[in-house]
Amino acid sequence: MASSHGNGNMNCFITPICADLKMMTPGIRPTINQPLIIGQKTINNRLFLAPMAGLGHIAFRELLSQCGGYGLLFMEMCNARAVPHENRHFSPVFRWRDEELPYLVCQIFGATPVDMARAAERIESEGFFGVDLNFGCSVQAIVKKNCGAALLKNPVLSSEIVKTVRKAVSVPVFVKYRIGWEDDPGFSVDMARRFEDAGADALTFHPRVAPDRRSRPPKWDYIRQVKAAVSIPVFGNGNVFDENDLEAILLKTACDGVSLGRIAIAKPWLFAAWSKDIQPADTILKETILKMIALLNRHFEPHMAIKLFKKYAIYFAANFKFGHAIYKELSKAGNMEAVEQHIHLLFEKNPATLKRPDLNMFTR
Ligand SMILES: Cc1cc2nc3c(=O)[nH]c(=O)nc-3n(C[C@H](O)[C@H](O)[C@H](O)COP(=O)(O)O)c2cc1C
Repeated sequence: MASSHGNGNMNCFITPICADLKMMTPGIRPTINQPLIIGQKTINNRLFLAPMAGLGHIAFRELLSQCGGYGLLFMEMCNARAVPHENRHFSPVFRWRDEELPYLVCQIFGATPVDMARAAERIESEGFFGVDLNFGCSVQAIVKKNCGAALLKNPVLSSEIVKTVRKAVSVPVFVKYRIGWEDDPGFSVDMARRFEDAGADALTFHPRVAPDRRSRPPKWDYIRQVKAAVSIPVFGNGNVFDENDLEAILLKTACDGVSLGRIAIAKPWLFAAWSKDIQPADTILKETILKMIALLNRHFEPHMAIKLFKKYAIYFAANFKFGHAIYKELSKAGNMEAVEQHIHLLFEKNPATLKRPDLNMFTR
């Protein structure tokens, strides 16, 4: 089965006017669009939306689907213990539109092989493209439960989890992980081999040590070492913010594709700009945020919509010269009506934008 969401759709709000964006190096676009086999499925585009709690929800993914240009979308992490009995219409995270399923991967976190396998079975039965196992989250609340990156302290249990999930489902099994708890690329390589031997179909490697949330640069060279050590596809991740970064990570690491995190939230049209020759119109920022507001209102109750909007707003505001002030104003809004009014006022003032977002704001 082939999966690609490369063409956007008829409602695509980005138009083929090429204004100020520098064209991609011609050599990169064919690489991005080269089909790749993952398990028993094929993707036709090697750019992924990275899993991001509080950001990669159903409303954001619907916004992204109107631009297209990606191969797979990874959902925010879901608790493996909750997934088997979760109601998709009430859960804030285990929630999707049916049309997403052919290119949607559900990420789960858990501490035991049986929890992860039961969740994976539900995910397969719902028709997702695949399941992603979280061995990377180092947030205290997750690590405390022996989930996420905590599992890297126990390589034998980590292998057991992947093996058990592999036996339980036939959809592609992805593993997302970090360097480990010490800065040792040898450990990352060893884990990559263990994951492959246990039956993982693809790895996403975020080369930072576990306690480092995102303060230091990721070590892309470790991605190269991991890629060289296994024969399953390896997706690189970490600090890809513009087309030069994308070209560099692909060339320096030889990774099979790239998982885009924060920049995808700030500029969701970049998948289309980078993988197709589609460039945004001047009105893209305003159109994006108004759509985001409408989609949050459609998919969530008012209290949840405003909460999720505020998480998104910092990435949106990072696109402006005075982003901190814009974010400060937006974060004061008490409800979505106030947000919308504020956005109209903001754009009346024609605010100065930045080509590369203010990365100091990419801290959440
Ligand atoms: C707000 C936020 C939430 C995140 N949540 C998850 C998550 O649920 N699962 C996961 O594997 N990684 C999560 N990540 C990590 C990202 O997937 C990614 O590895 C990281 O942001 C580095 O990529 P980037 O530099 O492209 O943003 C999160 C990152 C951010 C900023």
